[in-house]
Amino acid sequence: MMSKPKGKHKKQKNKATLADQADKHDCYQQAVQEPEHETDIFDQVYREAYNRKPLKLREDFCGTFAVCCTWVESDAKRTAWGVDLCGSTLQWGRDNNLSKLKDKEAKRITLLEQDVRELNTAQADVLAAQNFSFWIFKTREEVLKYFKAAYANLASDGVIVMDMMGGRDCYDSDIVDKRTIVKGKSGFKYHWEQAYFNPVNSHCTFYIHFKFADGSKMKKAFQYDWRFWTIPEVRELLLEAGFKDTAVYWEEDDDDNDDEDAVWIKVDEAPNDYSWLCYVVGIK
Ligand SMILES: C[S@@+](CC[C@H](N)C(=O)[O-])C[C@H]1O[C@@H](n2cnc3c(N)ncnc32)[C@H](O)[C@@H]1O
Repeated sequence: MMSKPKGKHKKQKNKATLADQADKHDCYQQAVQEPEHETDIFDQVYREAYNRKPLKLREDFCGTFAVCCTWVESDAKRTAWGVDLCGSTLQWGRDNNLSKLKDKEAKRITLLEQDVRELNTAQADVLAAQNFSFWIFKTREEVLKYFKAAYANLASDGVIVMDMMGGRDCYDSDIVDKRTIVKGKSGFKYHWEQAYFNPVNSHCTFYIHFKFADGSKMKKAFQYDWRFWTIPEVRELLLEAGFKDTAVYWEEDDDDNDDEDAVWIKVDEAPNDYSWLCYVVGIK
């Protein structure tokens, strides 16, 4: 039998790219999440509503529950529930976030792999739904059902806090917002693609892509098919669900305050910026 002559074939190029080696949840957390900032906002909103420190957090749509982790680290009396449908995302959080906490902190987190619309007996002070997650509900009925469940999952002194985005730039389609996350060789780029917007029903599609220093890409690492809700719609639905009051927190426009942490204040009117982020709050 003839054997293949050695050295005649080129060695297969099989070098893993940076995209192959990257972890999408790790990139997401670095690019999108600021758990310390969220904890500060929840604290501020609750104190302004009830004049005391909130201790029990329920993080709906918690994903890798980074905010729950920061919450329990911030005070020995604080407990947190993280709720998400996706078992593998929760597991990533257990392996990579929960494992970094001290045992006594980790014990104060309870994870529920379930739909956020299910009722649980634990009554939270703050119920958070961050990164526009409730936009997955595309009809008034679905959002109302969610807000009623959120109301029931809150203590009698409780607040729901949700972030919202808007402004004319956010309604563009086929545009990509690019940001460098960490500079240098270990850095990567975060691309937020606004792929689709239908003005008739406000349905929209967004993607998150990551691009690495060797030029490799992790395309469509995350996809979101949402309805683009507006602040007044959300406030009306909160009241309909039983919340006694609502408020909107806007970042204070202070040009002299570049080095300082952002200051968020309750507003009735805000500048018509090309794009903006805010928090909408329901007070029980
Ligand atoms: C946009 S991510 C938000 C992750 C994290 N909260 C953040 O702020 O970055 C949305 C998460 O919601 C979860 N999810 C979607 N629909 C859900 C539902 N009905 N009940 C519970 N979790 C849901 C998904 O599994 C996903 O982890």
